[in-house]
Amino acid sequence: MGGGIWVAIRDHRADRYGGDIVNRTRLLSEIVDATAGVYGKDRVGVRLSPYGNVNDIGDSRPVSLFRHVAHSLSESGIAYLHLIEPRAGAGLTEVNDASAPSATALLRDDFRGPLIASGGFDAASGSTALASKLADAIAFGRAFIANPDLPERLRLGAPLNAYDRATFYGGTQVGYTDYPGLQEEAADSRLVPT
Ligand SMILES: Cc1cc2nc3c(=O)[nH]c(=O)nc-3n(C[C@H](O)[C@H](O)[C@H](O)COP(=O)(O)O)c2cc1C
Repeated sequence: MGGGIWVAIRDHRADRYGGDIVNRTRLLSEIVDATAGVYGKDRVGVRLSPYGNVNDIGDSRPVSLFRHVAHSLSESGIAYLHLIEPRAGAGLTEVNDASAPSATALLRDDFRGPLIASGGFDAASGSTALASKLADAIAFGRAFIANPDLPERLRLGAPLNAYDRATFYGGTQVGYTDYPGLQEEAADSRLVPT
């Protein structure tokens, strides 16, 4: 699914999309079914932010809600479930609260397909998460913006370019296409007068 789906939960609706958990998650189920009908379920993935509260989205009882969602998605046989850990505030802030609950740990057993975790990971914590089978893959946001060759850097243990938060939502290519790759950095350093 394109940019990801936020399950907006404000329990004000009185129709079949409001009220109990089944009703509140109906829209997501319908979207998954419709999308899978067009592209095939093996080409549909869902991204969720279970403990997220960005833009006033949130739920007072996220555990039961998202366990239900993860179980339903598992039954539907979609390609993957991608979770944003709450500790990194979805990349919107510099907060990295290691004491926040782990969405991936919560839902690992409910979703039996491939699970992708994101939010506040670096090379070390990502490797640990994979080794402990917490997730099947790790996704990176901010680090990927600033490092066009992030996989290569992680493989080599090379230092990462620091991201510039001021350009994250700038609306131009600045801060998106101008971070140097490793080869450029190496070429630059060879040209520096000594
Ligand atoms: C500039 C920027 C734009 C983002 N846009 C989206 C988006 O459109 N949809 C989405 O699901 N997440 C979006 N995110 C969140 C990231 O995908 C990711 O979950 C978040 O940055 C946490 O991962 P990180 O700690 O590796 O950065 C965005 C993050 C940043 C920094």
